[in-house]
Order: sequence, then structure tokens, then C-alpha cells
Amino acid sequence: MNSSLQQIAFQQQWSNVDDYLEKVLLHPSPNLDKTLEYNTSQGLPAIDVSPLQGQFLHMMVQISGAKRILEFGTLGGYSSQCMAAALPDDGLLITLEKEPEVAKVALHNIERAQLDHKIRIIVGDASKTLPTLAEEEPFDLIFIDADKESSLLYLDWSIRLGRPGSIIIIDNVIREGAILHEQRDKSTDGICQALESMLKRPEITVTALQMVGKKGWDGFALLRINTNK
Ligand code: SAH
Ligand code: DHB
Ligand code: MG
Repeated sequence: MNSSLQQIAFQQQWSNVDDYLEKVLLHPSPNLDKTLEYNTSQGLPAIDVSPLQGQFLHMMVQISGAKRILEFGTLGGYSSQCMAAALPDDGLLITLEKEPEVAKVALHNIERAQLDHKIRIIVGDASKTLPTLAEEEPFDLIFIDADKESSLLYLDWSIRLGRPGSIIIIDNVIREGAILHEQRDKSTDGICQALESMLKRPEITVTALQMVGKKGWDGFALLRINTNK
């Protein structure tokens, strides 16, 4: 086991490296900076994706040519903005947020960035609002980042709401290694249920990427829907 002092030293290095990479790789984004400032002022937790992760999501939209995106978990709309900025003007990102007060903060940030024509926030528990999407055109890219307990349910819905070739990205699948702990909290259990269902699904191809950085030690699962018939 690492001592907690070692942990702090590692975290400091991961954050410093993220700061360096942001400086040399990312164009400044006043709208994203203001989003984080406003989120903090409104009491939202800083559990958005990091700037480099946001740029990864942005590039996944570019590379895939996605025109329709579904997001689970809006918070202040940081990741929503990263993805929507890569959409063509007739593209659409639908983002699901349980808390009305949180959705208001996101809308403020999204309007400031002039991305409101491409983003629709659906307020309510995703498990209740998802059925309203069943008749929608399929989504090309889906980002799952809401409550972790419901990961398996969100994965089932995502496969259903996608099409062959759609991409699904799931955040927080490593949780500082908690997926290996004997005592798993409900969130970690939810992530493990989703991960452990993957091999039984011939309809997807999947991998997972461990990451360290200013958001600690965590990771994305990356899936491709092969068939959903
Ligand atoms: N994707 C965001 C961070 C999302 S944090 C970003 O990177 O910027 C997780 C969000 O999911 C929180 O805002 C939380 O309120 C929301 N959430 C939690 N449970 C939910 C549920 N059952 N349905 C919809 N949203 C939920
Ligand atoms: C939490 C949620 C997230 O989506 C995340 O990226 C980090 C932390 C959380 O609920 O603590
Ligand atoms: Mg997350």
C-alpha cells in the first residue's frame, strides 16, 4: 500500500503533467473556464471531465462524424460543450440531468457559449426520461456519466438507442482501483455490473483505458455497437 503522503505526491505530479499538457496542447477556452468558475459559484462539485478528457470527447465527435449525441449526466454542461462544439450546426446533443437547479446552471453556461441551438437538456431521472427517446433517430455517440449505480441500465438503453457503428463512452470505470476492492460501494458495484456484462454481449466491441491526471486515477470504457437488432 502507498502511504497517503506518497499518494499526495503522485497526485501532484499527475496534476502538474495535466497542467503542462493543457498549456502546450489546448487552445484557451474562455467559455469553458467561465463554466468551471460559475459551477463553483453555484455550489456544483468539480466532477466534470478534465480539459484534456473534454478534448478527447470533442475529437471523438470529430473523428466519428457524429451528428446526434446522447449524454447521461449534464452537471454544468462542461462535457456537453466539449462535444457539442464539434457538432455541425444541424447536429444535436441531448443531455439528461436529474436535478432542475443543476440543469439551470448548465443552461446558463451553454447559452454563454452560444451552443444552445445544438444542446437540449432533458430534466429528470434518466431512468424515467429515457423512454421518451425510444422513438428518436438513433444516436451516433453516447457518453454515460450520471449516477454509477444505474450503469447497467444506461448501457442497455445506450445499445438500444444507438445503431451499428455508434460509439459509447462510459466515464469513471476505474474509480481509483475500487473496482478491485472486496467491499464495493453501490456506485462501484454498478460500474462492475456494467463491465462484467460486456463479454456476454455479442452486439458490442469494448476496451477500457485507465487514466491518471488532475481528476485522480480513473478511466473510460470505449464501446462500439456492432449490431443492436
Ligand atoms: N458530464 C458532466 C459531469 C456529470 S456529473 C461533465 O463532465 O461536465 C453527474 C451528473 O449526473 C450530476 O449532475 C447529477 O446530478 C446527474 N445525475 C445523477 N443521477 C442522475 C439520474 N438518475 N438521471 C440523470 N442525471 C443524474
Ligand atoms: C463523481 C462522478 C463523476 O462523474 C466523476 O467523473 C467523478 C466523481 C462522483 O460522483 O463523485
Ligand atoms: Mg464522470
